[in-house]
Amino acid sequence: MRVNGATVKRKEIFCLEKITENHENRLYSDLSWIWPLWGDLEKDYGVYCERVSRIFEETARIPIKTVLDIGCGGGKNLYHLKKRYAVTGLDLSPQMLSLANDLNPACETILGDMRSFSLNRSFDAVLIDDAVSYMIDQAELGMVFDCAYKHLNPGGVMAVTPDRTRENFVQNETTTTLGEKTIKGDRFEIVFVENTYDADEADSVYEDIMVFFIRKNGKLTIETDRHRLGIFFFADWRRCIQETGFILSEYEDTFDRQKYTTFGGLKPFSASS
Ligand SMILES: C[S@@+](CC[C@H](N)C(=O)[O-])C[C@H]1O[C@@H](n2cnc3c(N)ncnc32)[C@H](O)[C@@H]1O
Repeated sequence: MRVNGATVKRKEIFCLEKITENHENRLYSDLSWIWPLWGDLEKDYGVYCERVSRIFEETARIPIKTVLDIGCGGGKNLYHLKKRYAVTGLDLSPQMLSLANDLNPACETILGDMRSFSLNRSFDAVLIDDAVSYMIDQAELGMVFDCAYKHLNPGGVMAVTPDRTRENFVQNETTTTLGEKTIKGDRFEIVFVENTYDADEADSVYEDIMVFFIRKNGKLTIETDRHRLGIFFFADWRRCIQETGFILSEYEDTFDRQKYTTFGGLKPFSASS
């Protein structure tokens, strides 16, 4: 077989690993290096952050100067939000925080778990984007919202965007995305394949299986990854946010012809206001 003009033995270009139990969240650990190739930093994340900024400004009762991005990952939202605000990123993965630092050298980043962090200071706004999908039951959702509430100034706002809700979940939804980049002289072409599957509708967990076709200078490696994510009804999102003490608002938007909802939560000046 010939690849880029060179003859390569079949077994050298094809290395398929089976999904095993320990293949979980590799995208945020040993495979984190491919994260920057996924999605268009300028377009996709720029559009989302414009939307989030509008939600902040419309919902808050105080001027927004400081923002905490919870589950900031590789810092693609920080990259846009830092143009308007003093932003801090928090994430569970040191590898993802390292990417966030590379992209945003002047931004503060903090290693922490969104369910339990404590920073002894507060912000004017908090963003939790798709990272909130890693909360697999309502008790965990409540913990995240409690933490966000504690780290907000009165009159400040939380914006939360789940990937999916129970109402719009599609069984076996499969998407492919192509990312290309030259890194230190090596040409990488990566096809990201993502498949969602809910094995048991009675619980609030579904899985997102990822397969990465990684071609480095034409030589193919296939890697697999599994993510366990939470799926909740709209009513559950609304109740959890309101039970924390937030005043709820909702914003619907469309991206790539897919509708998604961002929940807003205003922290009142007093419990009764
Ligand atoms: C899909 S990525 C988010 C990426 C980010 N929005 C970006 O633009 O780069 C999900 C992130 O959630 C983080 N995460 C998952 N569980 C977490 C937890 N309990 N606390 C903090 N971060 C968590 C992962 O480490 C990962 O970086």
